[in-house]
Amino acid sequence: MKYLVGIDIGTSATKSVLFDENGTVIASASYEYPLYQPKNGYAEQDPEDWWTGVKSTLKEITPKATDGSIVGVGLSGQMHSLVLLDEKNEVIRPAILWCDQRCAKECGEMEEAMGGRDRLVAISANPALPGFTAGKLMWVKKHERENFDRCAHILLPKDYIRFKLTGEYATEVSDASGMQLLDVAGRVWSSEICETLGVDMKKLPKLYESADATGYITEEAAALTGLDAGTVVAGGGGDNAASAVGTGVCSDGKAFTTVGTSGVVFAHTKEPIVDFKGRIHTFCAAVRGEWHVMGVTQAAGLSLNWFKNNLAKDKTYPELDIKAAKIPLGSDKLLYLPYLMGERTPILDSDARGVFFGLSALHTQAHMARAVMEGVCYSLYSCLDVFSELNIKLDSMAMCGGGAKSGFWLEMFTDVFGINLHTMKLADSATLGAAILGGCAAGVYENVKEGVERAVKIDKSTAPDNKKHEKYMQYYKLYTGLYLSVKDMYKRLSAI
Ligand code: XUL
Repeated sequence: MKYLVGIDIGTSATKSVLFDENGTVIASASYEYPLYQPKNGYAEQDPEDWWTGVKSTLKEITPKATDGSIVGVGLSGQMHSLVLLDEKNEVIRPAILWCDQRCAKECGEMEEAMGGRDRLVAISANPALPGFTAGKLMWVKKHERENFDRCAHILLPKDYIRFKLTGEYATEVSDASGMQLLDVAGRVWSSEICETLGVDMKKLPKLYESADATGYITEEAAALTGLDAGTVVAGGGGDNAASAVGTGVCSDGKAFTTVGTSGVVFAHTKEPIVDFKGRIHTFCAAVRGEWHVMGVTQAAGLSLNWFKNNLAKDKTYPELDIKAAKIPLGSDKLLYLPYLMGERTPILDSDARGVFFGLSALHTQAHMARAVMEGVCYSLYSCLDVFSELNIKLDSMAMCGGGAKSGFWLEMFTDVFGINLHTMKLADSATLGAAILGGCAAGVYENVKEGVERAVKIDKSTAPDNKKHEKYMQYYKLYTGLYLSVKDMYKRLSAI
């Protein structure tokens, strides 16, 4: 039997999963680590924590490949987060994460330096957003010049792990798209953007397609992980591009919604489709020569996680589900805006923060839990609004990520979206997608589409209750109006 390993460097934890070539899970392990918030709107992690997580999870799963060998490894990870290494390959400063909002000013400056937003969009397919890597790099250049000058290698989280596993500085097109240094239509680094921003292209990792071989496990990494030296490591994908492979979202009309720390609505597109307003992102897909669009809610699972850790310490997630399910639709007139870390789709507002609106003495912890879940659903529903404005047609929608494990939340998503949703046999689709890409690099599958046919399995489909959908839409209108009413207050709050 040939085995494959998928590794996902998430924001809350690293997950490593051992699969057989039919996509059956043989073993899995995860390792959690902290997220540091030194200031309001900042988010950082220690890349060493990711590496510790990778070593410990691989040590746990690799011995389970008993009647065969692990022939390929694929990497997936949180996108955009900035890792800087010096000449000795030491991490220079904590990674600045995708959800960190500190560089809004630098984003404006980047667009100006490019001669305007249109030129940046024409090359990188997206306007400058604080979520993307280039703005974070410009922040370091301006505020920590010593660190910028000391930097010899600019990497993304999964690519730092690739370096630890193979000794190679490499990335692939899906994750590279989110750095905003890529010519997204041409699938090459953009010398124009790099020169304008003063980024030395020699410091960028070598660029591959997601299913290509990028390196091989070194003797040193083999001893630390239990993988065999010489095992091929594929390009892999940013967590969303990898999840697309793991849910079989590899052709036009197919889409998925994922709820992890962030929430994403993702649709495959054969050609790059650009939203000039920047509300949804256009990136290269893990499928060779194709693209995707995606809308992002910064704090999806993070909203519920924050609520549980601070206001419902006494409950588990399943207990919160049971309590929230007893509250009527609309949470007895309580609304929640999930902007704990600013927001991307559709409002693009790094100053925005969370709101409970309509709080009454009648409301309980259970009402607030339900309102949080409803607010996250509305936020992701707004991505669908943008898709339809851009004429992106969806035939099917998979649901994955940690949020898909809650039957109650899944039903709520189905009713809010008002469309059929289907779950996957494996909710952690990013690890399966990464493993399939590893299988392509190892020659187990001829291409991504063959890997998907063999390894991706749909679980069950849920249909919406149209009456509930209509009711949710009444609240959705208030939800979108609520942001518009407080929008100016955010600027004033952040200016104090
Ligand atoms: C996507 C994004 C998040 C992270 C989370 O643009 O920033 O979904 O990839 O891991």
